[in-house]
Amino acid sequence: MALNGLLDIELAVKNPQELKDFWLKNGLIADASGSLGTADRKKQISIVEDTYRHLSAMHLSCENESDLALISRNLTDMGVSSVIQGTTLTCTDPIFGHQILIEVGKPTPLTAPPVRTLNGPGNAVRVGERADVLGETSPRPPRRLGHVVLGTPHFEKATDFYVNGLGFKVSDQVLNGFATFMRVETDHHNLFIHPGFTSHINHYALEVDDVDAIGKAGMAVLADRPDANVVGIGRHNLGANIFWYLTDPSGNMFEFFSDMDQITDDEDWERNHCKRDWEGADGPAGFSVWGPKEPESFINQPDLLEIAAAREARGLI
Ligand SMILES: [Fe+2]
Repeated sequence: MALNGLLDIELAVKNPQELKDFWLKNGLIADASGSLGTADRKKQISIVEDTYRHLSAMHLSCENESDLALISRNLTDMGVSSVIQGTTLTCTDPIFGHQILIEVGKPTPLTAPPVRTLNGPGNAVRVGERADVLGETSPRPPRRLGHVVLGTPHFEKATDFYVNGLGFKVSDQVLNGFATFMRVETDHHNLFIHPGFTSHINHYALEVDDVDAIGKAGMAVLADRPDANVVGIGRHNLGANIFWYLTDPSGNMFEFFSDMDQITDDEDWERNHCKRDWEGADGPAGFSVWGPKEPESFINQPDLLEIAAAREARGLI
């Protein structure tokens, strides 16, 4: 199986216009259908209305039509029905309940960012000029939807669905194997599933150019929403991405990130790095290698009881 891209997601929230306005102000642009994206990738986040916040769809790509057939067979084996129409497979996530769409294709390539000239000890490359970030009148906009993090009490079944059903590759596991970083691209993770009180989206993550872009974008959010800060800036151990987590107006947490570990040789990663429990003494442990640690609200988000009640009312596990 060869999934090769996380194309876009759909978020269901109570007030879609409020969330759309937030992202239009913070660097995303709307396409003809009203979805949000960037100059390179027009559709990355769609927003619909519902009575509670949740991920309502995840759109992936794969290399060819035989991948769809294999995924469909694997899903059938685990009791999940799917439909292939043309070059698109659709199914429903059996745990979270969102729609999964997989189409033959691949993500649109990204334009490389303008290079900054950064001075270092013994390496003065910007002389007689101020740093370019000072001259940027607005933050560099988000570039791409990079990953989604989901929490659920049914984390083992959910992880099995994504790894053995859809074909996500495991990059790392923590919490004695209960929490799993998975990828479909070269990013260390496009999806992380961890134990949680109820099935919910923990955060979605937008890649930006670099640490300056994270800092300026985060500060722009705080200028309008002073209570939006959750945790940052820091650098994660697993994935190594520089992060800043904030909340959007819908109550979803999101992340601005840059400089994530890239995995292009799956066998090398499998052989030398993958599937260890990094909580032990033989590897990096914890939330960040530098920067603040996660607050209690990072995992136990304040509206989980409300989400649990909404899911129960719809018969979702
Ligand atoms: Fe993240």
